Amino acid sequence: MCNDYEGFIRQIKKQTGIDLSHYKEAQMKRRLTSLRQKRGFDNFHTYFQALSCDNELVSELLDRMTINVSEFYRNMKRWDVLETSILPEILKQSKRPKIWSAACSTGEEPYTLAMILNQHLPLKNIQITATDIDEKALEKARQGVYHERALKGVPNSIRQRYFTKDNNVYHVSEAIKNAVQFKRHNLLSDRFDSDFHLIVCRNVLIYFTESAKNELYTKFYRALKSEGFLFVGSTEQIFAPQTHGFDVFDTFFYRKTVT
Ligand SMILES: C[S@@+](CC[C@H](N)C(=O)[O-])C[C@H]1O[C@@H](n2cnc3c(N)ncnc32)[C@H](O)[C@@H]1O
Repeated sequence: MCNDYEGFIRQIKKQTGIDLSHYKEAQMKRRLTSLRQKRGFDNFHTYFQALSCDNELVSELLDRMTINVSEFYRNMKRWDVLETSILPEILKQSKRPKIWSAACSTGEEPYTLAMILNQHLPLKNIQITATDIDEKALEKARQGVYHERALKGVPNSIRQRYFTKDNNVYHVSEAIKNAVQFKRHNLLSDRFDSDFHLIVCRNVLIYFTESAKNELYTKFYRALKSEGFLFVGSTEQIFAPQTHGFDVFDTFFYRKTVT
């Protein structure tokens, strides 16, 4: 069926508010086609008809489109750069920095941030907003309970200070949990807060089309304070950052140009 997929994404937008046309088409179409076929639908039209009256199917579809893989201290070297080069710059500006972990998935990233910041600031000065489009991932994040594999990059001293082990799982300390506020937020359609010293947005931009990414860089620019930082994932270097108002500060770290 010729415009089967395009029709499907229009209807999904109407039903869920999520606009799949901003995600790279080949990749998303492949993921959703395999799910549709697994559920026994020959085309997207009949699949959508079933989705309109079956919330379980919708929830499964949303699960498939959001890729929640994360871990503490993901790409460890980047967190070293954050702690040794970026944080001192931020602390020159504020001893109570405003920080956003965007597309935070199940919480490993904002909790990593809180643990690193707490090496330099008391927890009462740490305010991290952590957002994701996926309510289920946020629920897991709020619980703060993880399997060993999510902790493989965590230094021993941090493990001992901020986690307690209970049977086979690790609980993040309440003090760290209290430093992070989780909220649902769709990067592609919701309003952005402003005056951030640091925005961390990693391993989600790769799923978006070039035009969606360009729009996001502009929104991140506006959401940052003058000289604020944007920290992106290790495959997400910004092409021509100056055109979006950013200077490269270090690999994968961009600083809002002074205006
Ligand atoms: C691979 S995870 C990245 C998690 C974490 N930032 C990291 O690097 O470990 C990608 C996350 O992006 C979220 N996501 C996808 N589309 C989104 C959107 N439009 N707005 C906000 N979050 C989105 C997914 O739900 C998923 O949790």
